[in-house]
Amino acid sequence: MALSNSSARWGAIAQVFHWVIVWALLAQFVLASAAEDLPAGVGKLGTLARHKSIGITLLVLAVLRLGWRWSQRSHSPALPADLKRYERVLAQLIHPGLYALLFALPLSGWLMSSAKHYTVSWFGWVTLPDLVAPNEALFEVLKGTHELLANALLALAALHVAAALVHHFVRKDTVLTRMLPFGGQAGARAVVMLLAVLLGAWGLWQLLPGAAATAGSERATSIAPVSAADTGAGAGNSPAAWVSDAQHGALEFEFVQAGAATRGRFGQFAADIDFTPGAAPSGRFDVRIAVSSIDTQDKERNGQLLTAGLFDVARFAEARYVATRFSANAGGYIAYGQLSLRGVTREVPLQFTYTPASADGKSGPVLAGSATLKRLDFGVGEGEWKSTEWIADEVRVLFSLPLMPHR
Ligand code: HEM
Repeated sequence: MALSNSSARWGAIAQVFHWVIVWALLAQFVLASAAEDLPAGVGKLGTLARHKSIGITLLVLAVLRLGWRWSQRSHSPALPADLKRYERVLAQLIHPGLYALLFALPLSGWLMSSAKHYTVSWFGWVTLPDLVAPNEALFEVLKGTHELLANALLALAALHVAAALVHHFVRKDTVLTRMLPFGGQAGARAVVMLLAVLLGAWGLWQLLPGAAATAGSERATSIAPVSAADTGAGAGNSPAAWVSDAQHGALEFEFVQAGAATRGRFGQFAADIDFTPGAAPSGRFDVRIAVSSIDTQDKERNGQLLTAGLFDVARFAEARYVATRFSANAGGYIAYGQLSLRGVTREVPLQFTYTPASADGKSGPVLAGSATLKRLDFGVGEGEWKSTEWIADEVRVLFSLPLMPHR
């Protein structure tokens, strides 16, 4: 089969575009309806992540297909000359309509994900930029738009298929067969189409959740909780020299969700800080964090994070970081503190810098730095949430604490 189109047949490239896009669209509807039936959780996250990746692939394919179509415009099959006027008008509306939806659907999905602060990743390989800032109301509008466009695509695709069948079985022209591989050879055509259908069905089956929900379940043993008192956290101390809180400072975290880095913050914490910089730094950090103040700019995800399978805020309302041992290094300082989170206490080294107070005394010292920890070390991820396929184990914590004198 020729690669390029001729006036009698679509070439191999046009056919590959056509049939790959048909398969991908089918996958989109199967994945979307599977996601709709799933409860909020890892399975739904994974199913929608695949839906998004295939959707972005469709957007790229639409651009390439349109480009190819345009480059072949002088020698492509034309509509049969004997079409009635209304049939010609319908075809001339449906074909551009299908192309327009091939662009509009992925774009509305991408916009919708951005508005929900779910950054889109293409199969975990390429992180796409967010198109709009998180916005709950806009998300709802875009969700409705996406659904409407999907229904419009279904309607146009149904008309398109019906027309192809009428051409083949009623008018008995070549409109359908010129888009099928091996145009003249009915047997070879049937075998190729059957193989394609079987391969497509197998591919769809692979895309559905199942593996995602159970992956990582080998980490079944839970970490024995250590009480905060065992580590000296919370032991009585004289008042700290400095304090900071969420009104003045920032305590953020970054984790990879469905292939894309996602930021969140804690809106409520209190830090008591004593710190003497130098070659042999000393002091004490005591930071208490209200877990319920977690904010990832999406109400649904915030709620999910507080459930028993993740932070279990009903049982563990506070997280606490206490450090009394420090060292200096090229990057500034390291605090060797104990983080108590969800009933587990472990050492988490914190790399930070110390900026002294301004000479005029107008601004106090600033501590800023980061730490990397594994959420599963603290049991943040029970049951299906243990899986690291869609939510990575590693979490980066970042903070900036302008210090104020203790009153
Ligand atoms: C041609 C490509 C696409 C098609 C045919 C398609 C189709 C659909 C359909 C039929 C639904 C279910 C709508 C409903 O009845 O509720 C859906 C939902 C969804 N789609 Fe797409 N989609 C496409 C591309 C995308 C892309 C590129 C993204 C994101 C990057 C995306 C994100 C979503 C999300 C997040 C939902 C679930 C919305 C919710 O219920 O929260 N879609 N899509």
